Amino acid sequence: MSALFEPFKLKDVSLRNRIAVPPMCQYSAVDGVINDWHHVHLAQIARGGAGLVIAEATAVSPEGRITPGCAGLWNDAQADAFAPSVAAIKAAGAVPGIQIAHAGRKASANRPWEGDDHIAEGDPRGWQTIAPSAIPFGAHLPKVPTAMTLDDIARVREDFVAAAKRALAAGFEWLELHFAHGYLGQSFFSTHSNQRTDAYGGSLENRSRFLLETLAAVRKVWPERLPLTARFGVIEYDGRDAETLAESIELAKGFKREGLDMLSVSIGFSTPTAQIPWAPAFLAPIAQRVRREAGLPVASAWGIDTPALAERSVASEQLDLVMVGRAHLANPHWPYYAARELGIDRPSWTLPAPYAHWLERYKVA
Ligand SMILES: Cc1cc2nc3c(=O)[nH]c(=O)nc-3n(C[C@H](O)[C@H](O)[C@H](O)COP(=O)(O)O)c2cc1C
Repeated sequence: MSALFEPFKLKDVSLRNRIAVPPMCQYSAVDGVINDWHHVHLAQIARGGAGLVIAEATAVSPEGRITPGCAGLWNDAQADAFAPSVAAIKAAGAVPGIQIAHAGRKASANRPWEGDDHIAEGDPRGWQTIAPSAIPFGAHLPKVPTAMTLDDIARVREDFVAAAKRALAAGFEWLELHFAHGYLGQSFFSTHSNQRTDAYGGSLENRSRFLLETLAAVRKVWPERLPLTARFGVIEYDGRDAETLAESIELAKGFKREGLDMLSVSIGFSTPTAQIPWAPAFLAPIAQRVRREAGLPVASAWGIDTPALAERSVASEQLDLVMVGRAHLANPHWPYYAARELGIDRPSWTLPAPYAHWLERYKVA
């Protein structure tokens, strides 16, 4: 029996298996409104058989977009545009999730395939970024952000709340707060980006405050019956990993106290000088430690892209859910491929009938 194909229940939501598609920006929205590209992308991937499909980092405000092409949820037209994709994901048997985000000092950038760097000063496509402190990320993202006032902090927290309400109205059943990857939430936690001397900087408690307050505010409007998760970088690979990991586990315990249902364990990406030890499934043992010490279910990604690795990560109780990202771009029917590789009985039935019927007898290479 395959652990990867065991169903998973979180709150009132049941996933058909442990395969999740992590949020993947398409950088193809106009004024934050998604379009046919996103719809086909999300529907096709959901039809491939994953239990959970999380729509891309979706900005809670215009200045929170990574690029001008990022999706948004700061107005109702943006929420309405998501509704057909949500329906298609559900019709395909997957649970529709969305990640809401604020890019902080990494905002106002060019699309990855157009440079991935900050939009040049004076270019009307760009905007002033905000962050806990006026410290730039550096390297390809040199723009100096404006340090947020207490009013800014309160406003962004309410932007997360408003976006959560719109996500619910659009039909999403799983909400992830993007607190990872050097974006705004992560940058409050990291001393690489947070040098504040008020209640939002300094001690672990203070650096955790923006994340915990935002989570608590969102939890009030996101129904208890539906999963509320966060993605957070528990490690930076900056030479201070033991301390960061210990602090991150304390934060994860705080997340749990504030009502978080699962943590998506990721990397901090708070400094361009990080030395990341890329290798297949390298983050899974770290996720397992967070799972054990914080007592929260965990998901994780990063190179868990073979069926054997995915199966092992779940079977050995490192992860509750395996996020399979780029492998889904290469093969939107990745769960079918995985089921075949793992010797699941009748793997074709991970796919919808118009495909499954034909693949049941005709085993393609
Ligand atoms: C095209 C693309 C877009 C991404 N966008 C997001 C995003 O919106 N939010 C996020 O948390 N991570 C994002 N990521 C990271 C992925 O969610 C995932 O963690 C990463 O691809 C590693 O998993 P993989 O090895 O299975 O691809 C993105 C990755 C890719 C390739």
